[in-house]
Amino acid sequence: MQRLIDFITNSRVWRSFFRHGWPDNPLDRSLVMTTNVFFHLHPVKVSRKSLSAKYSLGLGLISAIVFGVLSITGLLLMFYYAPTVERAYGYITILQTQVPFGQLLRNMHRWGAHLMVISVVLHMARVFYTGAYKPPREFNWVVGVVLLILTLGASFTGYLLPWDQLAYWAITVGTSVAGYEPLMGAAIKSILLGGPEVGQEALTRFYALHVMLIPGAILLITSLHMWRVRKDGGLAAQDAEESEESGAKSEE
Ligand code: HEM
Repeated sequence: MQRLIDFITNSRVWRSFFRHGWPDNPLDRSLVMTTNVFFHLHPVKVSRKSLSAKYSLGLGLISAIVFGVLSITGLLLMFYYAPTVERAYGYITILQTQVPFGQLLRNMHRWGAHLMVISVVLHMARVFYTGAYKPPREFNWVVGVVLLILTLGASFTGYLLPWDQLAYWAITVGTSVAGYEPLMGAAIKSILLGGPEVGQEALTRFYALHVMLIPGAILLITSLHMWRVRKDGGLAAQDAEESEESGAKSEE
């Protein structure tokens, strides 16, 4: 048996996947972290406290997972949707009443959108209450604010797509409010609507923003966000633990 295990673990295929030995020494432990794309999200050394679900409540991860679910369900919804004022509402009705699992798909996307807004806001509150916005993480806080705006933007642009009464009037009100923004209000409103009122131009723009621009930006900026978490030395809990350790050492 041992010979078989040795044969497998020494084979070229195995070694192309696992480029380190059994992690029973500091070098192999750090290689495990740096050669695995998922572990690589963490710094080489991770404190127990920062890994505890009680500390971060996993809210950032939950936001990322919900974004993944939204991307998949959104892609499937595109199979049964056309962004034209004549057909959008009809397609949504067909999806709900005639397509197998259509209603489930639509509800997963809609509830997922609400859940993402809630989890991102709670994640932000957690970051605030643990003081993780302080240096050196202030840049990542700003990156987070951009993610929050994009998350709200995705919800807002998606709202128009069913082209029902609720959508039409919500966007009419929303874009009118945007129009009152000082200095750039009129420009923002006309960029969003592509015309004087909510119509085909607005639907086309909201669709492009909702399925391409905003999700693409969220994907890109979330990668930056995760990279910064690693570069800032992991979660803020780690700093407290490290300074406690160095304090204890200097007292010795
Ligand atoms: C699409 C939205 C977002 C995603 C997917 C996301 C994802 C994550 C993940 C996975 C982490 C690692 C720790 C954890 O799970 O809590 C994290 C940490 C962090 N996030 Fe976010 N985040 C988002 C929005 C935000 C927002 C809105 C803010 C603040 C305005 C923010 C600020 C931070 C900061 C400062 C950290 C480091 C926390 C620490 O060191 O304890 N993020 N984020």
